[in-house]
Amino acid sequence: MTLWGGRFGEPSDADLRRLNDSIGFDRALYAEDIAGSIAYAEALVPAGLLTADEASAIVAGLRQVLAEFDSDSFALMPGDEDIHTAVERRLIELVGAVGGKLHTGRSRNDQVATDFRLWAMRAADRLTSDLRGLQTALVAAAEQHVDCIMPGYTHMQPAQPITAAHWLLSFFWMLARDIDRLASARSRMAACPLGAGALAGTPLSIDRHALAVSLGFQSPSENSLDAVSDRDFVADLLYVCALCAAHLSRLAEDILIYSNPAFAFIILDDRYSTGSSLMPQKRNADPMELMRGKTGRLIGNLSGFLATLKSLPSGYNKDLQEDKEALFDSLGALASLLPVMSAAIRSLQIKPEAMAAALTEDLLATDLADYLVGKGLPFRQAHHAVGAVVRRAGALSLPLSALPLAELQAINPAFDADVAEVFDFARSVAQRRAFGGSAPAAVREQIAHAKQRMAGPEE
Ligand code: ARG
Repeated sequence: MTLWGGRFGEPSDADLRRLNDSIGFDRALYAEDIAGSIAYAEALVPAGLLTADEASAIVAGLRQVLAEFDSDSFALMPGDEDIHTAVERRLIELVGAVGGKLHTGRSRNDQVATDFRLWAMRAADRLTSDLRGLQTALVAAAEQHVDCIMPGYTHMQPAQPITAAHWLLSFFWMLARDIDRLASARSRMAACPLGAGALAGTPLSIDRHALAVSLGFQSPSENSLDAVSDRDFVADLLYVCALCAAHLSRLAEDILIYSNPAFAFIILDDRYSTGSSLMPQKRNADPMELMRGKTGRLIGNLSGFLATLKSLPSGYNKDLQEDKEALFDSLGALASLLPVMSAAIRSLQIKPEAMAAALTEDLLATDLADYLVGKGLPFRQAHHAVGAVVRRAGALSLPLSALPLAELQAINPAFDADVAEVFDFARSVAQRRAFGGSAPAAVREQIAHAKQRMAGPEE
């Protein structure tokens, strides 16, 4: 039996029911739906709609429905269109006609918006905790590699030496921003639609402030018409998920490149690597490819749902039922990706010797220009002179440090014997010690800030 059958002379068509029914996926909201109903039943007592005894009977019935879902013994019936219908149907079976009073003044429009916000707040908290897990793994790995020097790249071309810790920590800060974004999205989520009714508000004297707080919201929503159709919180969360996946995909891509034998900077543990059914030697980083691959889907969920929201007229529209699968999918993907990425980082072997072997002197060209600046040349002239040095060394097939002083001085007389000191990767890195730089000293400070950030009250 539907919740709305009274007006109709004929039952709805079976194909329509299959299209319209959402129980297949919104069943996941059962705990939130029941929590919302318990709070609502309690709010109906001071409003004079339920006696205390009626409310207790309803609450007891709802707790039993919850137990049935929790133990997987809830029996769905053909008319259970969505989670709200299913819970109410079962409640009335358990407690009798009094259960039919629960929905007084309430609509599934304010109900589903409340349920889904509650669900989304919990999901945001779980995602925050998974992100912190990966941050912890990154900081731990960074702490082990503060003095480990590797080539840094721009345009995927060798650029300047950096420390491996600095590379790892760059991802820590991406995730820190994701966590900030989640906290900000969560604060907007925390407005409670319950009591908005179908669109116009409730005629009952319900204390919506108390109701909101009893469910763990910050406040009631300000406008009932907005409350039933606002799905900004879904879009917010889909965006955070998509961006977070984009960050994971970038870390994954670095791991794919650096673990390639042509680089051999890192080794992904056996437990997070896969083999080939044909080529016995293969060692593939499939999980990293899945990080990259799933990111496409998460971006699709965001753009698809924004398209759903576009041009919707005021009030609740059934289009909004599309909100759930998208968000379940994005959060589900991150819930499977993040623990794997954290474990992969915890078990990642970093190979300082391979990184050192890949350090070529062209990575010090900027330091050579800085050297000339130290001798009084404007940077633009110094840059030009070092460009000529690099070209000359290339023509002679010599590393920069092997170019005779006379050759250097022929390019620019400011070169002197002390130029030899420039050809030192550790010195180059150590000079980048200003705040936020890759020098071991700056990185130690960065690690301290990262740890403060993880312990901080705002997260
Ligand atoms: N299953 C619906 C959804 O997810 C619940 C709200 C239905 N409201 C309505 N008036 N049909 O959006």
